[in-house]
Amino acid sequence: MKKVKMTYLGLFLIALTLLFVGCAQEESKVSPTTPTQQNISKIVEEEMHSMMIKALLLHYDNPNTDEVEGVNVNPEFGCQGCHFSKEAVIRMEEWGKSAHGGYLLEVKEKDLNATVNEEVAPAWIHYDFKSDDKLLCQKCHTSTGFRNFVTDPENYNPANNTFLLAGKQREFLYCWGCHRVEDMSFELRNPGKFERVATYSVPEDRISAVPDLGEANTCMVCHSGTSSGEMIKLTDEIKGKDFGAYNSHYLAAGGIIFRTIAYEFEGREYDSPNPHASIENLCVACHMSNGDHTFKAIDETSGKIKAYDNLCSKCHTDEQEVMEAMEKNRKGFEASLEVIKNLLANRGIYYNPYAYPYFYPSPNPKEQIFPNAYRDWSDKDTLGAAFNLNLLYHEPGAFVHNSNYTKQIIYDTIDFLDDGELDYSVESTVSGEAQEFLSDVR
Ligand code: HEC
Ligand code: HEC
Ligand code: HEC
Ligand code: HEC
Ligand code: HEC
Ligand code: HEC
Repeated sequence: MKKVKMTYLGLFLIALTLLFVGCAQEESKVSPTTPTQQNISKIVEEEMHSMMIKALLLHYDNPNTDEVEGVNVNPEFGCQGCHFSKEAVIRMEEWGKSAHGGYLLEVKEKDLNATVNEEVAPAWIHYDFKSDDKLLCQKCHTSTGFRNFVTDPENYNPANNTFLLAGKQREFLYCWGCHRVEDMSFELRNPGKFERVATYSVPEDRISAVPDLGEANTCMVCHSGTSSGEMIKLTDEIKGKDFGAYNSHYLAAGGIIFRTIAYEFEGREYDSPNPHASIENLCVACHMSNGDHTFKAIDETSGKIKAYDNLCSKCHTDEQEVMEAMEKNRKGFEASLEVIKNLLANRGIYYNPYAYPYFYPSPNPKEQIFPNAYRDWSDKDTLGAAFNLNLLYHEPGAFVHNSNYTKQIIYDTIDFLDDGELDYSVESTVSGEAQEFLSDVR
């Protein structure tokens, strides 16, 4: 991996100075004769000054810290890497408040000197993903890796990723990561069918059955997980390894929608159709209604479904009803995961989603540290149950993305865990919201 020293801050300063000087000159052409003009000139100067400081604090990332002070300006794309058009302006503000933008603007709105840290955006900050021991991660955790990957998935070799960043600087998923800035078309980078980008190789038939999803092909690269439950079935010896060896990875919405990822139990059918899988441009249709770059399907203040009028209403008839069904499903989903957690605990396997690799033989959080991880997997179904719990815990939209399938996996996981047999015993194991959620599944 090559690194080029960051000289761009210098360029940036020069650009801003030119802007500043340009405006100052503009003004000196008009001789300041009246007090009003002098006042205006002073106001403009102060405004420019505070804008410059704000812009600097938004665009400079200190190479000596693990945290992100501001976005990086990649010399290959310059300012246009993000500021690409008039239409871009509103998208920048939305993006700056999104998970892909590290919530930078939210952080800076509270305090311009605050930084995006590990707690705010672990997926971009937790490691320095540029480093040579993170080659496998770069296509999803850096803009540079992602751009190189989607440009040519077949021939992508992360060893050739060149990061134009110094020291410990990090990249979020920048505009130029998803949009083609180099030819000024700003078109979406599209890697083609999921088959070309899948990180896991089984279940082969279902991976190859994922259709061309148009704009959502781009999302599938990062949002389908990195390993599947089927991989567990192919493993000869499961004992002795911590859960990290089997982990599905996170926010794997694509894997749930197309059933490529979960651990499915032998002898059970999972083929009920997913009405949401056929939506054109899939993720983009539901999460980017009207071009929204917060990527949020639900408006946080009003609680409304952003794409309802444009999309959901084509198949659903009552907005209120859909929202209520969603809330009910969310509660049932969360309650059911709690049941799985408790059933695993009954077997001496304790889940802690905040402590990688997540499963421990001790219920005491103080003892839940990496060296003490659970490794004594007795059989594949138990490991598969743990896999499903962690997968769904990290796919908080599963109950919308593919509600029937999500219920089926949860049902079977509980059915197995409660007495070690698939015998339709769930009714008597669960109660309340979980029971309602799972009532008509099997
Ligand atoms: C990685 C993306 C990115 C790149 C590259 C980038 N910017 Fe920005 N810029 C932003 C974001 C995000 C904002 C905040 C937009 C908002 O608040 O609506 C911003 C805001 C600004 C602002 C307005 C500051 C304010 O008062 O809100 C200026 C001026 C600016 N950028 C100048 C530049 C210049 C000059 C360059 C090239 C040297 C550049 N930007 C490169 C992302 C970028
Ligand atoms: C196929 C895409 C993909 C690959 C490859 C990938 N990740 Fe991720 N990773 C993601 C996504 C998406 C998230 C966001 C999860 C979230 O915020 O819940 C994530 C989140 C993380 C997080 C934050 C975890 C948390 O609890 O929020 C860490 C740490 C991480 N990944 C490490 C790695 C490492 C190390 C590698 C390489 C060995 C890697 N990832 C490879 C997609 C990927
Ligand atoms: C995760 C990928 C992703 C990132 C990051 C991203 N976009 Fe987009 N953008 C899309 C998708 C998907 C569309 C819709 C499809 C299309 O236009 O091809 C889109 C559309 C657009 C459009 C045209 C549609 C409209 O209504 O405005 C603009 C302009 C745009 N993006 C600007 C930006 C800017 C500016 C940034 C960075 C601040 C950015 N995008 C970051 C994925 C992304
Ligand atoms: C390069 C990898 C990558 C691509 C491409 C990508 N994402 Fe993401 N996405 C992530 C990561 C990583 C996170 C988690 C970031 C965090 O929370 O720190 C995330 C988070 C999200 C979230 C959660 C938002 C929230 O506020 O909780 C949604 C929704 C999302 N992405 C949708 C999309 C859609 C839609 C697309 C395609 C247009 C897309 N993503 C493309 C990596 C990616
Ligand atoms: C039918 C519409 C629909 C489709 C298609 C869809 N989503 Fe979602 N997604 C939602 C809704 C609704 C939520 C729940 C939002 C909430 O809980 O507030 C959600 C939740 C999520 C979340 C959890 C974080 C969040 O924003 O709450 C992620 C990440 C996500 N979706 C990514 C994707 C990706 C990637 C795709 C495509 C592979 C996709 N979604 C397809 C509607 C959809
Ligand atoms: C192509 C048609 C179609 C579109 C578009 C669509 N849905 Fe659906 N959705 C369905 C069907 C059909 C079902 C019933 C699934 C079943 O019960 O088998 C469903 C089920 C649901 C459920 C589960 C309800 C329950 O009682 O379990 C939720 C929640 C949901 N949809 C939300 C949404 C949202 C939000 C959108 C828009 C962002 C949306 N849907 C768009 C067809 C669609």
